Amino acid sequence: MSRKWLLLLLLGSPWMKAQTLKEWGAMRRILIGAAVDPSRFSEAAYASTLRAEFSKVTPENLMKWDALHPGINTYNYAPADSIVTFATQNSMQVRGHTLVWHSQNPAWLTGGGFTPTQLSGLLQDHINNVVGHYAGKVYAWDVVNEAFNDDGTLRATIWSTQPGIGLTGTGYIEQAFRWARAADPNALLFYNDYSIETVGAKSNAVFQMVQDFKARGVPIDGIGLQTHLSVGFNSGAITSLENNIKRFADLGLQVHITELDVRLPVSGGVATPADVTAQEAIYEGVVRACLKYPLCTAIQVWGVTDKYSWIPGAFPGFGSGLPFDANYARKSAYTSMITALSTAPPIINGTGLVNAASYAAGGVSPGEIAVFFTPSFGPASLVAAIVDSNFKLPTTLAESRVLFDGTPAPLLYSLAGQVSAIVPFGVAGKASTQVQYQYKGISSNTVTVPVVAVKPGLFTLNASGSGPGAILDASYKPIGADNPAAKGSVVLVFLTGGGKTDPGIDGQVSTGLPLPSLTNVSARIGGVTADVLYAGGAVGLVHGGIQFNVRVPEAAPSGDQPIIVTIGGQQSKSGVTLRVQ
Ligand code: XIL
Repeated sequence: MSRKWLLLLLLGSPWMKAQTLKEWGAMRRILIGAAVDPSRFSEAAYASTLRAEFSKVTPENLMKWDALHPGINTYNYAPADSIVTFATQNSMQVRGHTLVWHSQNPAWLTGGGFTPTQLSGLLQDHINNVVGHYAGKVYAWDVVNEAFNDDGTLRATIWSTQPGIGLTGTGYIEQAFRWARAADPNALLFYNDYSIETVGAKSNAVFQMVQDFKARGVPIDGIGLQTHLSVGFNSGAITSLENNIKRFADLGLQVHITELDVRLPVSGGVATPADVTAQEAIYEGVVRACLKYPLCTAIQVWGVTDKYSWIPGAFPGFGSGLPFDANYARKSAYTSMITALSTAPPIINGTGLVNAASYAAGGVSPGEIAVFFTPSFGPASLVAAIVDSNFKLPTTLAESRVLFDGTPAPLLYSLAGQVSAIVPFGVAGKASTQVQYQYKGISSNTVTVPVVAVKPGLFTLNASGSGPGAILDASYKPIGADNPAAKGSVVLVFLTGGGKTDPGIDGQVSTGLPLPSLTNVSARIGGVTADVLYAGGAVGLVHGGIQFNVRVPEAAPSGDQPIIVTIGGQQSKSGVTLRVQ
């Protein structure tokens, strides 16, 4: 082989395109985090590993009560602030940990002999002060940590019953969430605990609490599964973890894996090969379980390197729990995480397939320009399509495809979580279509979506699906308050979901005649019937995109007036307006 070919082979080989944890995470719309200690930032390998591999950090200790609140009237923010600064400089998110916990509380608090009323005031002040200080900087908080015993009963702590803040049962937890929401309405609020990864007495108790919270509108956004595991976490436990994530996600809660490590028995810091193999499977299984549910939005390991892991201190005789060894080398646990991130199938949900103009769900129509929300795997940033030399849109864009009954649809743009496809005209006449998404050749689940003949949606100026329509005057100037449509003038209205046109060629951008034509159309402006002078494709518009030329009725009222088009008896979604002079 010549050197030139060898070079090409190397350049094209996967190991040249090595991706880090956070880069794969971005393609999955999940953040990959690590618990950190800022006193290590000056260690070059610590900082460079963090920067390359992680998109989120959590102070391992420095946002706990004893660190932040060393005296009744003293707050010590500087150490934790240095983590926020590091995160900001490196485009990372910060997870706050933790506001209410039985452990690592300062002696002035635990030994202060405070009454429930005083404790309540102290806790409210602390939450106000801390969450307020980090508002806009900490995107998610572990509001309450470890409030349950392993048998599912509530733990007796200074905040619950020793003596507590004066509220019974889970009342003090609820109160903490309400105070946290008030202090920063934009932060995501989590309940976090250990040994709640699988379905069991403890996770059932947490589930019942958050189900009740959701039902009563208590402000909670997510569940943190600490996920401090050991080699006994077998495949049955992984299945139970999946079921557990599912039930929390089904409540509409986000799930974060918050403190992942898998400790191994070690001798002289070294684990047995069998345990290392078991650890690989556990890491891969945990990541795969999270990737099954789009509401599982973060995976965080409890430390950057085995060098500084809490495991040997907390579990004597154990260690080697993290994906990076004491020399910052990637371990096989790391490779398993990458394997899961790069090969787990994307997940789609049929209800996420909507009209690109109106966002209406409930079935697709032939030629409809659609947006498919939720594919949980795709390019980390938006890639827009470019037409080929025949003015056709591609059906593979940045390695993503959307298939309708196996036919790849023309694509307009692709991004993890959001891909825009044009429903193939071939679905016409069918009752439903089988939709599948692919990324990097990996297929998602298949969903069945009803087919409707016509589903008109008008494009709007702010692309929200309602409000002022994306409507032009005859000189292509947008209609708006500064350019109201004169009565008797002709305006150009744009929509999609008009159904089958003649011709109707998948992904074809019109460059001239014949333009796709539509029949059986009408329009109303301000409740008054308006003449439709033209309905069909337009030069520069992809087949499936429709232009209506409508004359504004002399009898139409002035001001922002509802505009509705009807195609084949189906009305466009209401809520779109035209400014009439
Ligand atoms: C641990 C830290 O890692 C240690 O450095 C510290 O000495 C004790 O706390 N669950 C939690 C974390 O929520 O805050 C704990 O962190 C680990 C268990």
